Amino acid sequence: MEVFESADTWTAKFGGGQSINWAMIPTMGALHQGHLSLIEAAQKNGYQTVVSIFVNPLQFNNAVDLEKYPRHLENDLALLVGLGVDAVWTPNIETIYPSNFTEITLDLGILDQIYEGLHRPGHFNGVVQVLNQLFSVIQPKAVFFGQKDLQQCLVVEKLLASYFPEIKYFRVPTLRAESGLALSSRNERLSSKGKELSAEIHVSMLRISNSLENHNEVQDQECERLKQLGFEIEYLDWVTLPAMEKAKSCNLGETAIVFAGSLEGVRLIDNLLIPLI
Ligand code: PAF
Repeated sequence: MEVFESADTWTAKFGGGQSINWAMIPTMGALHQGHLSLIEAAQKNGYQTVVSIFVNPLQFNNAVDLEKYPRHLENDLALLVGLGVDAVWTPNIETIYPSNFTEITLDLGILDQIYEGLHRPGHFNGVVQVLNQLFSVIQPKAVFFGQKDLQQCLVVEKLLASYFPEIKYFRVPTLRAESGLALSSRNERLSSKGKELSAEIHVSMLRISNSLENHNEVQDQECERLKQLGFEIEYLDWVTLPAMEKAKSCNLGETAIVFAGSLEGVRLIDNLLIPLI
C-alpha cells in the first residue's frame, strides 16, 4: 500500500490518475466498518482504491468538535493494509489550503440553509472546498460516499454535476451495529450507556416510517421520548429527496426520515430511506 503526503508524488506517479481505474474514498480518518464498507464496495466494482485521510478544519463550525474529532492514523493505516487498499493520501493543511488557495463557488440551493446546513453554518461550503481540492489532485474515475451523511451526498452530487461530471458516483447504504446504531467515528466518544441509548434513534425512525399516515403525531411522540432519554434534538423529520422538503403522505418518490441531535455532548446524525410509496 502506497502512503503519500504530497500531491506532487501522486501526480508524478499516476499522471493525475488517468491511466488507472481509481476509486477515491475521502475520509477524515478514525475509520470504522462503515468506511470499510465503502472501500469494499469500490473493490467489488473492480476499482483500485485510494483513500484520503484529512480532518478538514473548513467544515467544522465548532472549534471544540474539531479539537475532539478522533485521530488514529496508525490504526487507520493498519486497517487499510488489511483491506488491500492500494493507496492512502494523508495531505497536510498546506497541501489542501496553500497560501494561494481560492474557493470555488457552487450553488447549493436551499441545501445549505436547512437541516445540516442550518445547524452547521458553513459546513457544506467546507465540504465542497475540500472535495474540490481532493478530486482535482487524484482525478478518480469514481467516488464512494456513505448514505449516513445523506445531505452531504446530495451536496456531493451537485459538486460532481457542476465540476466533475466525468466522475462516477456511488452512494453506499448505512452500516449499523446490531443494536441499530449507525456506525460513526463520533460513537467512540459515547459511554456504553450512551451507545445503548443512541440505538433508540433507529427505533424512533422505524416507528415514524411505519406511521406515515399520521407521522406528525408520531414524530412529536418520538421527539419527546428521545428528549426524555437525554437527547437534545435538532431535527427529526420526514423529507422528500432530493429537495429535502417536508414530505406529505401523498408524496411519491424516494423520501427519508432525517435526525440530528446530541447525547453526552456528542452530535449524532442518522437517516432512513423510505422507498417509493
Ligand atoms: O464525510 C466525511 O468524512 C467528510 O465530510 C469528507 C467527505 C471526508 C470531507 O472532509
